[in-house]
Amino acid sequence: MYQPQEIAVYIHWPFCKSKCPYCDFYKELAHNIDQDAVVAEYIDALRRYRQILPERTVKSIFFGGGTPSLITPQNVAKIIDEIARLWSLKNKAEISLEANPNTHYQTMFADLKNAGINRLSLGVQALDEADLRFLGRTHTLETARCCLKEIVEVFDNHSADLIYARPQQQYADWEKELAEICAYGLKHLSLYQLTIEENTVFARKNIQPLEENAAAEMYERTRDFLVARNYALYEVSNFAQTGFESAHNLTYWQGGDYIGIGKSAHGRFCLNGTHFAAEYPFEHTPLTPRERAEELVFMGLRLASGIDKARFKQICGLNLMQFINISKLQELQEAGLTAETPTHLFATRAGFLLLNQIVAELLI
Ligand SMILES: C[S@@+](CC[C@H](N)C(=O)[O-])C[C@H]1O[C@@H](n2cnc3c(N)ncnc32)[C@H](O)[C@@H]1O
Ligand code: SF4
Repeated sequence: MYQPQEIAVYIHWPFCKSKCPYCDFYKELAHNIDQDAVVAEYIDALRRYRQILPERTVKSIFFGGGTPSLITPQNVAKIIDEIARLWSLKNKAEISLEANPNTHYQTMFADLKNAGINRLSLGVQALDEADLRFLGRTHTLETARCCLKEIVEVFDNHSADLIYARPQQQYADWEKELAEICAYGLKHLSLYQLTIEENTVFARKNIQPLEENAAAEMYERTRDFLVARNYALYEVSNFAQTGFESAHNLTYWQGGDYIGIGKSAHGRFCLNGTHFAAEYPFEHTPLTPRERAEELVFMGLRLASGIDKARFKQICGLNLMQFINISKLQELQEAGLTAETPTHLFATRAGFLLLNQIVAELLI
């Protein structure tokens, strides 16, 4: 029976100082929240999870948002300490926090490190003052640069988020931002193409994203630029120096178990051979092996290494090559969009541009 030993913990902090016009993540304005009360609620939720998942080792903790850099370092430490008290924390567990430069104060990063954070992910979004304003960011370029300098000084493991394929953006301008971000020596980069999500200010203003072919070309050139600078593309939007892939996010893409704490957080875990989809605070819906298998295909193909066939079988009990549509797979292989080794099935470079289509075909 499949019984994973490790678990990842996601702490969602859905509060932001202001709302960015492109963002459709669940969030609330941070004014007037009783932070200590929210943290107390999270600690209660962690204790409830401990009762049903007692024997796990925590491999990673991720404070995501929203804007988790609004949590006081004292409260960050409180949450980490509680997790370490409830379960055993793996040696060198990755403990990440997403910081927004608009929450910066002089000792913020040192304080977060003292609280137990060992990987800092900074939401830079643009290294261009006008584009920061366009994206509705409330920090200046200078503050973003100052934060970048500080995080490489304070932490050994760091990442930044940038959004590209902005309306009318030219590759030459984007390449200058890429060159600048590379110069900081970050271990990891998450680069997202701007998407205009329904029910956002950008959608209401009818902002048009960069044309599809231009965005695809920008993606390809970005990939070459970063690979030449020792950042491997290991997931559709994520680049890392060797050994600095995000252990926490790999759990999602490789079908590992995780719990999610905080409004709009979710989890996946396997208990006595049954997979569960968890919704915060404490609602667990069993998943059939086929439902879990579909998720494993969808998530696994996002990785450059693709789906590990043996692991797939171990997790959901099904044989990957029998589960997916084999005649569609043959067509995809002939079109050069997917490829296979004895151990893995993966999307090729050309396939990475058509991932949603590939997944839809394989799951017909
Ligand atoms: C939920 S945010 C959390 C980070 C943090 N709140 C911040 O803004 O600095 C995670 C990342 O998703 C990306 N993102 C959010 N909305 C996006 C959109 N519409 N298009 C592209 N990327 C987006 C941004 O790069 C952002 O840093
Ligand atoms: S991008 Fe980050 S800071 Fe902006 S609204 Fe979304 S979660 Fe909040």
